Formats: sequence, structure tokens, C-alpha cells
Amino acid sequence: MPFSLLESLSCTKCGARYEVGPLLNVCTKEGCAGALFANYAAAAISRDATAGRSRTIWRWHEMMPARRAEDIVSLGEGGAPLLHAKRLGARDGMPRLYVKEEAGNPTGSFKARGLGAAVTMAKALGARKIALPTAGNAGGAAAAYAAVAGLECHVFMPRDTPKVFKIECEAYGARVTLVDGLIDDCGRIVAQRKDAEGWFDVSTLKEPYRVEGKKTMGYELAEDFGWTLPDVVVYPTGGGTGLIGMWKAFDEMERLSWIGPARPRMVSVQADGCAPIPKAFAEGKDVSVREGSAHTYASGLRVPKAYADYLILKILRASKGEAVTVTDDEMRRGVNELASFEGLFAAPEGGAAWEAVKKLVAAKKIDPGERVVVFDTGTGYKYVD
Ligand SMILES: Cc1ncc(COP(=O)(O)O)c(C=O)c1O
Repeated sequence: MPFSLLESLSCTKCGARYEVGPLLNVCTKEGCAGALFANYAAAAISRDATAGRSRTIWRWHEMMPARRAEDIVSLGEGGAPLLHAKRLGARDGMPRLYVKEEAGNPTGSFKARGLGAAVTMAKALGARKIALPTAGNAGGAAAAYAAVAGLECHVFMPRDTPKVFKIECEAYGARVTLVDGLIDDCGRIVAQRKDAEGWFDVSTLKEPYRVEGKKTMGYELAEDFGWTLPDVVVYPTGGGTGLIGMWKAFDEMERLSWIGPARPRMVSVQADGCAPIPKAFAEGKDVSVREGSAHTYASGLRVPKAYADYLILKILRASKGEAVTVTDDEMRRGVNELASFEGLFAAPEGGAAWEAVKKLVAAKKIDPGERVVVFDTGTGYKYVD
């Protein structure tokens, strides 16, 4: 059995196939520019064989892109605990409420999963310099993995991103540029300069491997629930990489016969001040409209238009899921409740996910007896200012 069963890449829009090897961003077919997904050869892999391996994202290495163990750049990301939220659950009559607690990842958020995979592959495929736009956490993670990989890292973030993210990136040796604009303005600068500068663009879903790192949350969830899946997964959504990745993981696991065909309802949570996905979902649209005046203190949710919005919306509909908005005040309350009931000092994005659950229960869209997983995607320590 090879270390990785990675076989090819394919476009999520037009289906075009690409070889693995050259550094690729998005589909290069005329007028397409779809996000690329990694495809793996079919093989009989026993899920039990993964049980004794170290609990990082590379534990599922046959279904991960690194071709050789020695290529892996790891800081121990993944293996986040699934916590039974007993006190909040008892208060709200939800006996099967869980939090997937991602704050303990290296650099304090689930972004470590995606950037661990992306930096591993960028280095293995020959990149020397990476660049990306960020809402904060992705920049910190990219900078840390670039540091340990020995790559140069260029980070572009909106000027009003919490200060800690710039300090963190610079501590890891990254070059940080503050931009007067939103994250997609930062992305445009990366796109304009990358060829002249020799940067490999690791913007989410504009390269194929961040989603591979994030999909491991789906593998972990299945294992956490004894190789079944929960009824509802509630995910605070910026670029949507984790939601897209988990859905991919569910399909891969079904092909491996690790799980059956049942799927959770996927819920995308955004902020009242930046809600392109809930708006498009409510209007029955296949793509979202850019939210030009995006504002929320949850910097990870301040994404005016996700690059792969078409995938997010497809998954929400295929799963019979929902798209919900939460105000900043509600997020603050959610953060306080996760902290004071469950001992988790969550990022506002995690608070948003918990508040969304309460809204959906009130609207009778979640039955309180269902198995519900709230993603606490990052630590609250970075948002203290
Ligand atoms: C803490 C936190 N939660 C959620 C998100 C959104 O993640 P995604 O881009 O995968 O939707 C981010 C993105 O920056 C984040 O930092």
C-alpha cells in the first residue's frame, strides 16, 4: 500500500483532470477557475489500522496528499477533542450536544489543519515562498508552518484585523502587509503580485490542499461517533473550507466502507453584518453576491464572498441543512455561555455557532434530542482587544 493514494486533481466546476506534481492553483480551462479537489485511488483500507497512529491530520495518510512521510511538515495539528456539552445541554434540554474543540490546535485554531497540509504540499512540490490573504488565524498558521518548513511567507490582512495576528505572524518570521480593505482585496493583491514575486498563492480553495487538511475534521467526527455521523454539524463559515472538506471526507469514508450513506444536516453560520451565504441560500441562488460593507468582530466570518460559494451552497442543499445569521451581541453571549457553562473560551466564531443552534431549536429546525456538533474553531485569547 503506498503511503498516499493520491491519484489526480479534478476541477469541482468542469471536471477537468490534472496530474499531481506541478504547483497548481485553480482550474486553468478557459473561463473556469474552479477549485481543484484531490482524488484518491480506491483501496481497501481498514479504519482500525488508523487507530494506533499518532492523532494528527496525517493519521489518515493514505487519504492525504503527502507522498512520503518525510515530506510532512507538522506541529501536531488535528485530533481535537469532541466534548459533550453537558451543562449547556442540561440547561437547554439537549442531551446530545457536543463541541468539537479546535482551539487547542497549533496557533490556536483549526486553520492549522489546512495550512499544515498546504505548506507540506507546497514545499514538497517545490515552492520556496508562499503568500495568502487572511482574516487572521490562517495567516498565523501559514506563518508558523512556513517557519518550520523553511519557506518565506507573505501575509496580507485587513488593517483592522486584531493586532495579535500581525504580531504573531511577524514572530514566526512572515512579512505582513496591512491592507485598507477586506480579505478579498488582500487576495487580489496576492494574485496581482505572485508571478513577479515568485509566490505560491495558498488562498483557501485557490490551491487544492488546505481543504485536505480541513477534511480530517470529518474523519475525526465519524470516529468520535463510533463510525456514524451526527445529525447536525454547525459550522461558522468564512471561506467554508472546513464545511466543504468534511463533506468530501464523508464521501471518501463511504467509498472506503467506513461509514454508511447517512449524512448530517450541515449548517453554515455567518454574521448579520456579512451574510452572503445565508442570503444566497434563502434566495435559492447557486452563488452568493459580494457583501461590500462586510462588518463583524468575528474576523474569520468577515469574508464578503467565499471563493467556493457554489460548493458551500450545494452542500447545504444536498444535506437539507440551513444557513443562519447571528449578531455580534449574540456571538458575545455565545462566547460567554461556552466559557461559563463548558469551560471553553471560544473565538467569536465558536460563539456564533452555539447561538445558531439555539435559533434553530427555537425555529424547530433542530430537535433538541438530536446529536448536534458545534464547531468551536479557534481560541478566544486572540480577540481580547
Ligand atoms: C476562528 C475561525 N473560525 C472560522 C473561520 C472560517 O473558516 P472557513 O474559512 O473555513 O469558513 C475562521 C477563518 O478565518 C476563523 O479564524
